[in-house]
Amino acid sequence: MVRTESSKRWLRRQQTDPFVKQARAEGYRCRAVYKLLEIETRYKILQGARIIVDLGASPGGWSQVLARKYAAHPQPPLLIAVDKLPMHAIPGITFLQGDFEEEPTLCLLKDLLREQFVDVVLSDMAPNATGHAKTDHLKNMVLVESAYNFAMQNLANNGRFVAKVFQGGTEGHLLTTLKKDFEKVMHVKPKASRPESREVYVVATGFRKLRFS
Ligand SMILES: C[S@@+](CC[C@H](N)C(=O)[O-])C[C@H]1O[C@@H](n2cnc3c(N)ncnc32)[C@H](O)[C@@H]1O
Repeated sequence: MVRTESSKRWLRRQQTDPFVKQARAEGYRCRAVYKLLEIETRYKILQGARIIVDLGASPGGWSQVLARKYAAHPQPPLLIAVDKLPMHAIPGITFLQGDFEEEPTLCLLKDLLREQFVDVVLSDMAPNATGHAKTDHLKNMVLVESAYNFAMQNLANNGRFVAKVFQGGTEGHLLTTLKKDFEKVMHVKPKASRPESREVYVVATGFRKLRFS
């Protein structure tokens, strides 16, 4: 099998990455779990949640974190995961396969919610990388804005919103809006986020529902 330079680099990185090793040892599907675990440790975004929506959920690392957290809970929250790619089932997770950019997916998601408000919207959605930083940034911003629009319409008062953002210059407007809608807006670069990546997470807490009613 002929490997390209970039796939050789990827393989070398996978073989030496401590988070990949830790994820394997702990039975997680991917190293991304350590990003959510760090965010949760620092900001307690999941505390008291009754409904959590995980956007861009496949292969299922973040959903595994949610499922494990509530496995022994007497009244676990409704945990809904959405991805355009398939995902192997995880007990406790309701998985919806569909493109979040498309209306039918949003309609199915609304059906699952049955007019209830959501406490936490997580978005780890990422476009297929083109390798061109500006293009990847713009494609990512489209996904972040869709997640944010969904959050605006469906979050409960005091809700939390977490989204992966590839920094690239056009995220300023969204951040200004978020600061009006939430009590606190933080930028987080978890240790498991590769230093060379332009990825950061926006963590917004204390949604002000009344602004929209
Ligand atoms: C970095 S991965 C998410 C990893 C996940 N958080 C985990 O822990 O396993 C990004 C995901 O976003 C999904 N995605 C990208 N665009 C999407 C869209 N328009 N609708 C739904 N999912 C999307 C991709 O299919 C991909 O699975």
